[in-house]
Amino acid sequence: MTDLQPVKGTRDFFPEDMRLRNWLFEIWRRASVQAGFEEYDTCVLEHENLYIRKAGDEISKQLFSFEDKSGRRLALRPEMTPSLARLILQHNKSLSFPIKWFSIPQCFRYERMTKGRRREHFQWNADIIGQPDILAEAEILLLLISACESLGLTKKEFNIFISDRRIVNAILNQINVPDDLHSKVMVILDKRDKISSEALLDMLENLGMSEKQVGMLNDYLSNTDLKDLEKNLNDTTGVEQLHRLIDIMDAAGYSAYLKFDISIVRGLSYYTGAVFEVNSPDKKHRAICGGGRYDSLLSAFGGETVPAVGFGFGDVVALDVLRDLGRLPELPRKLDYTIIPFASEQVGIALKIAADLRMQGYVVDCNFTMKKMKKTMRHANESGAEKAILLFPEELTEDKVVIRDMILHEQKPVKITDLISIAE
Ligand code: HAM
Repeated sequence: MTDLQPVKGTRDFFPEDMRLRNWLFEIWRRASVQAGFEEYDTCVLEHENLYIRKAGDEISKQLFSFEDKSGRRLALRPEMTPSLARLILQHNKSLSFPIKWFSIPQCFRYERMTKGRRREHFQWNADIIGQPDILAEAEILLLLISACESLGLTKKEFNIFISDRRIVNAILNQINVPDDLHSKVMVILDKRDKISSEALLDMLENLGMSEKQVGMLNDYLSNTDLKDLEKNLNDTTGVEQLHRLIDIMDAAGYSAYLKFDISIVRGLSYYTGAVFEVNSPDKKHRAICGGGRYDSLLSAFGGETVPAVGFGFGDVVALDVLRDLGRLPELPRKLDYTIIPFASEQVGIALKIAADLRMQGYVVDCNFTMKKMKKTMRHANESGAEKAILLFPEELTEDKVVIRDMILHEQKPVKITDLISIAE
């Protein structure tokens, strides 16, 4: 027998699920457009090699990939950033930088299924390309905060945990870890919360770090004070940039959302500067959102170096967080009118009234079940319609219909020719 369940890790969206999804997307879209971002999209199918990276990113191992009938290696996109980089590289000459783009792609990752992680999710992406200054990070963070606030989250309910990869780069340089290992170390460090310290040590040693170096790295990473770090590092670029970002956010009135957290490195190897994650203050969820600066992704694809910064914000954790807080909106089906004929010869007039009302912008459904009054009214109630238009034979002989207010439970006969003016 055919398996009726959706593929493991994927979801079906029934109408009530779609209402919730559209509500969320609408908040993301409005926040993006209000902040001057333009929407783009690409196909969910991409060339597999867009996701193959030397640093051993987890994402490369989680690809849903296959060979098409012409022998091309393709993949369902696990994230949007490489597709965005591809678009920018394709039209590099005709675009006027900086550009601010957003998208809400469906992404696929063959993940181990845990709370907040599935094999398919939608991910709001917003990116600023072509702005080397940390002002781009500030703009991106303000967009993120405005969306979280529009979702109903308060200062007590979410923080942006932020660091800068250049801080870890400086530490690694200071303990003599060669440059070409840095992004691999970041990918491993990102697993710190998920694996034992022995496993972490093993992985770092396998990469070529000595036990002493790993010990020194851990010592540095246990320092949670930005000022202390500044004193101990030879290269303070990362710390300085972070101070500047916090100052800008302070001037804008939003620095209270930021929390410096040196443990944030992010699992994607292409990040080069500021990196951040959104979570509850006690970090009880998987990251709701993650992003950062990635100035060398485009050059890695063979183009010029183009500075870029952005984030991905998944629908799964966002809705989990709101559900946990009891903050999911009630979104019943909404209809202005349901038109109910009781005999097949009334179908024509029902459709005519429906078409007239729809032309005026009303949301109108026709109930053609032709059931008995009681059943039909139950159906009308469940439809969410504010008003029912009942086509009783008696009233119809006088060119009238009965309009019933489903909320007030009141009804009155109305001439069909007056219906349009009443509806207005
Ligand atoms: P990411 O951290 O891999 O970053 O994913 C960003 C967000 O997507 C996560 O914080 C989470 O909300 C959601 N997400 C990721 N994987 C899953 C999953 N398996 N199930 C449910 N939700 C998931 C990126 O993808 C970067 N490309 C983001 C970015 C854009 N950086 C710069 N621009």
